Amino acid sequence: MSLLDVAAIKADFPIFAKKMRNEARLVYLDSGATSQKPEQVLAAERSFYSEHNAAVHRGSHLLAEEASLAYEGAREIVARFINGQVDEVVFTKSATESINLIAYSFSNTNKGSFALTAGDEILVSEMEHHANLIPWQQLARRTGATLKWFGTTSDGRLDLSAIDDLISERTKIVAITHQSNVLGTINPIAEIAHRAHLVGAIVVLDACQSVPHFAVDVADLGVDFIAFSGHKMLGPTGIGVLWGRAALLAEMEPFLYGGSMIESVTMESATWAPAPRKFEAGVPNMAQAVGLGAAITYLEKIGMREIHEHESTLTAYALAGLSTIKGLQIIGPLDAIDRGGVISFAIDEIHPHDVGQVLDQYGIAVRTGHHCAWPLMRKFGVSGTTRASFYLYNDLSDIDALVDGITATQKYFKV
Ligand code: ALA
Repeated sequence: MSLLDVAAIKADFPIFAKKMRNEARLVYLDSGATSQKPEQVLAAERSFYSEHNAAVHRGSHLLAEEASLAYEGAREIVARFINGQVDEVVFTKSATESINLIAYSFSNTNKGSFALTAGDEILVSEMEHHANLIPWQQLARRTGATLKWFGTTSDGRLDLSAIDDLISERTKIVAITHQSNVLGTINPIAEIAHRAHLVGAIVVLDACQSVPHFAVDVADLGVDFIAFSGHKMLGPTGIGVLWGRAALLAEMEPFLYGGSMIESVTMESATWAPAPRKFEAGVPNMAQAVGLGAAITYLEKIGMREIHEHESTLTAYALAGLSTIKGLQIIGPLDAIDRGGVISFAIDEIHPHDVGQVLDQYGIAVRTGHHCAWPLMRKFGVSGTTRASFYLYNDLSDIDALVDGITATQKYFKV
């Protein structure tokens, strides 16, 4: 059992001083939706605005120089964190925008690696959240390509039994989640990427639930693109990352057009700056990028390996605790192997929204509903679930509070 010093970590997060309903302490179990922010991140944003604020890559004055250095410094921090090259890191507003950017690049050209036509196939999985499903559905509609998907086994793992049929010469894109936001399942990405590359497909990894929680090395995974958002990893909202292989980014068409992304412009036409700038039209989310850099520095100080071990301990403890509750069904793997700190569950005869509301009376924040993964809810025959998700500021007492809160909920509803 390996646990972090949660009391020391919590002291960095102002929100944990807040009293919740009925003067309860905050038991925050909703980091899968968004994480809380440490003072270091808030201070970095404040310092950007109060000491360096200017539009990056434009002015010739001191503030513009400082702002540009801070923004590009954040890019270097992100690149190092995922073991990529600096020019392979594109700042977007969110992971959703990162994924849309790739999808639109496929329909903005019909050349080279990004050509996609009727008869081609896009492969996703049944456990995608909507951000990594709908952009591909729409790309298929725009191009006539066919959308296919890996199923999910009844114990919440990716069903690879049909991989030989699903990955074929027709497969052009494989877009898959690293860790399910509902099931917690961590997928065997290196193996899938290897198979996809044998047929020349491009592999897009939705890393929203993985990059914040364990070390992700783009070189090791062998994928072509990864997308993640800052707000799930202690950073601000409004900042996302798209990492892509340099050769593919060079080939890829822009998605948003405007200032900053150009090389030269006439009244009739324009040419594009090299990546990453050709994907960053307009004045970017500068303070947010700087905040994300501070968030990564914070995570690195604690250690991604340590964070992962901590969350694995919490997950194993929570799986054991929840499995003692009669009438509670865990939706997802029942063991902590290849599984992150996200646990979804259904309780007999109580709607998830009611569970969430009673837990809220005890200061316990969970997510309820379909978790932006509607097809997965259908697969498991539920309209929604209650989901607890953990991060570095949770400890065993939070899990105990959850288990007690669920028991109290059952008592309240007399089930
Ligand atoms: N994908 C986010 C979640 O799981 C929104 O809550």
